[in-house]
Amino acid sequence: MRAVLVPSPGSADVLRITEVDRPSPGPGQVLVEVAVAGVNYMDVYQRSGAVPLPFPFAAGVEGVGTVVEVGDGVREVTAGDRVGWLRGGQGSYAEFVLVDAAMAVPVPESVPDDVAAAVLMQGVTAHYLATDTYRVQPGDPVLVHAAAGGVGQLLTQVVALRGGRVIGTVSTEAKAAAARAAGADEVLRYEDAPGRVRELTGGEGVAVVYDGVGGATFDASLASLRPRGVIVVYGTSSGPTPPLEIPRLNSGGSLYVTRPTVVHYTATRGELRARTDELFGWIASGQLRVSIGGRYPLADAARAHQDLESRRTTGKLLLFPSGAAPSA
Ligand SMILES: NC(=O)c1ccc[n+]([C@@H]2O[C@H](COP(=O)([O-])OP(=O)(O)OC[C@H]3O[C@@H](n4cnc5c(N)ncnc54)[C@H](OP(=O)(O)O)[C@@H]3O)[C@@H](O)[C@H]2O)c1
Repeated sequence: MRAVLVPSPGSADVLRITEVDRPSPGPGQVLVEVAVAGVNYMDVYQRSGAVPLPFPFAAGVEGVGTVVEVGDGVREVTAGDRVGWLRGGQGSYAEFVLVDAAMAVPVPESVPDDVAAAVLMQGVTAHYLATDTYRVQPGDPVLVHAAAGGVGQLLTQVVALRGGRVIGTVSTEAKAAAARAAGADEVLRYEDAPGRVRELTGGEGVAVVYDGVGGATFDASLASLRPRGVIVVYGTSSGPTPPLEIPRLNSGGSLYVTRPTVVHYTATRGELRARTDELFGWIASGQLRVSIGGRYPLADAARAHQDLESRRTTGKLLLFPSGAAPSA
């Protein structure tokens, strides 16, 4: 079978499509024929060595496909099931991948493969950020950085579903249109925060900042909060956040800071299923719209990484191991 390997840390061109043996599932695992693999910043961090894995390793953590073989002790799914996963499936940029059965969630028939793959990692992230990390209340003013991104567009919609008022930041006019289409009430350029954020909130500041950009935005995020506001740094697409002097939380208004990760918000199969079931339900009822920003054959994984890192994309990027990538 074909798989994308990362032989050594580096830029996107280290990715190598390689012929490898098809693996067999061990206890608690299933072998899945991959229909669509999701492209994530996690893959970029792993490839560059920022998230350390022993090299060489197989790229990709997320996908949708059909279970073709089941290991000992697996009760959650059976052969022939259509499943999705956002973790427990390292090596998802491949024709087949081993997935921890506990992390393989059923995908309803009403949700196509590409839509499901586009809502797993980013959708579950948006879900936990807005419902648990900070539970958005009706009327809450909320700042969402990179509001046209994969997480950004979904998060904007989930915050709006909960009655929050989204102020989004983006880098270009085209991305502003995408953020507005996702339901952002106001869309700003990064340099307009915190000043314009304060104006839009009557001087008070926002209840929460969802910051997946990190290094470039962290200071403006802190300065955009109202007293007892929460800064949620869930990603660092622009680079690491600067060190935080704790007294700044005091002088900024008894602020809270958290750095969440999806692992701790999908700690059990029950919690994971509750989130994916609700997301798939919102898609089925038309309350959540998924935006797919690029479709690539497996052999073009490097180009997908370059596009993601170059800020050229809006929405989710997908790889199609069977070769042909259906047009958007
Ligand atoms: N903690 C978690 O559980 C979790 C889970 C999933 C993803 N994440 C994180 O969430 C973040 C967003 O992920 P995503 O997949 O949805 O990506 P994305 O938002 O589609 O892409 C990143 C966006 O960040 C913005 N950006 C601002 N400064 C940038 C810079 N210097 N370089 C590159 N991009 C920059 C760009 O939008 P503009 O051009 O509009 O600025 C870019 O499109 C990532 O940091 C990822 O690691 C975290």
